[in-house]
Amino acid sequence: MSVPQRVLTNDDIAQLVDTSDEWIRTRTGIERRHVAKEETTARMAIAAARQALQVADADPREIDLIIVGTATPDHSMPSTACQVQSALGATRAGAFDLNAGCSGFVYALIMGHQAIASGEHNLVLVIGADTLTRVVDWEDRTTCILFGDGAGAVLLRASEGPAGVLSTLLGADGSGGDLLMIPAGGSALPASAETVAQRLHYLRMNGREVFRFSTRVMPRAVEQVVQRAGLTLEDISLIIPHQANLRIIATAAKRLHLPMERFYVNLQEYGNTSAASVPIALCEAVEAGRIHPGENLVLVGFGAGLTWAAAVVRWGVSPEEAISPRYRIWWRWLLYHWAALRERVQRFLRRLTVWLIRRAERRR
Ligand code: UT7
Repeated sequence: MSVPQRVLTNDDIAQLVDTSDEWIRTRTGIERRHVAKEETTARMAIAAARQALQVADADPREIDLIIVGTATPDHSMPSTACQVQSALGATRAGAFDLNAGCSGFVYALIMGHQAIASGEHNLVLVIGADTLTRVVDWEDRTTCILFGDGAGAVLLRASEGPAGVLSTLLGADGSGGDLLMIPAGGSALPASAETVAQRLHYLRMNGREVFRFSTRVMPRAVEQVVQRAGLTLEDISLIIPHQANLRIIATAAKRLHLPMERFYVNLQEYGNTSAASVPIALCEAVEAGRIHPGENLVLVGFGAGLTWAAAVVRWGVSPEEAISPRYRIWWRWLLYHWAALRERVQRFLRRLTVWLIRRAERRR
């Protein structure tokens, strides 16, 4: 995982808009969030991917596919996944972004799992990364208090072992698209002085309706995906939900008749990091010793679209098993520097070729 250095507390936000630490804590559970300064979605995605490669001790040149779940790519074009591909030197990999709002990581995980299950791919890098603080309206207290930035990554590898993704569930209801959207900046309403003046390029949300949707869909998705795996809730040791609001998670826990301890919660530290929230929580849960090999987890996301997605995962790796030898760490470091050099040289050569062709045409 990777999060920005800069931290903004609730008190800091209370200096910007009419709110208070008490209101934000009691209504959301959020205490602080990490906010990008120099960091971008791609930079955080690359940093998280490099850590995942280190934990798995994998060679970036073996990656077959890179999927980045994000709603805030660095650019509309090219995709963030292609930026990650180049920075890692993942020369054999295909790469694409997937926009399913805050469900982006779980959607991407399911796509990665299916790419492997199809037999076409062996090693798939799945990332959830977002920089929502760049698109929230810092004058709108109903949204700016909620979001933070970050990225998380996992590597999926084909295996005959008993661990892996056991069942999946994808859902969408586009009729609720207007409940959480950025009206301008896309092809329907391209950015113009007018859209900027009307603040239409900022995220807009009907919080109450999204809250209602989330509390309805999250427990139902958990129940359905567990059933699809042929398990019961008793077989699930930890649920890792999208970290939007503590009250949403508490309502889901109540509806599922489960204690809060069965849910991993870290939104107090990061706020809602959109597609990054589930992989960041997964990463922290592993590091905190909350997940052990052989245990069943549910990952569940919900958000803009509207979308939702859930997966039951049987955990198969213990972090102690997966320490890279030092020489492999150096080897990957060299590969990343070589990849950066390769990118620069190739861009230079393309420009040089264009220049030479134009010069030859002018002379003709
Ligand atoms: O990741 C995508 C999914 N997103 C979500 O899941 C977000 C879901 N929604 C929520 O988490 C909650 O709806 C919010 C945290 C956004 C809002 O909480 P709420 O309990 O639903 O508040 P509300 O919108 O019903 O507003 C209650 C009152 C209003 O005042 P009045 O009209 O009752 O006088 C708001 O103006 O709280 C006011 N309010 C605030 N007051 C202080 C709204 N935002 C703030 C604020 N500080 N930041």
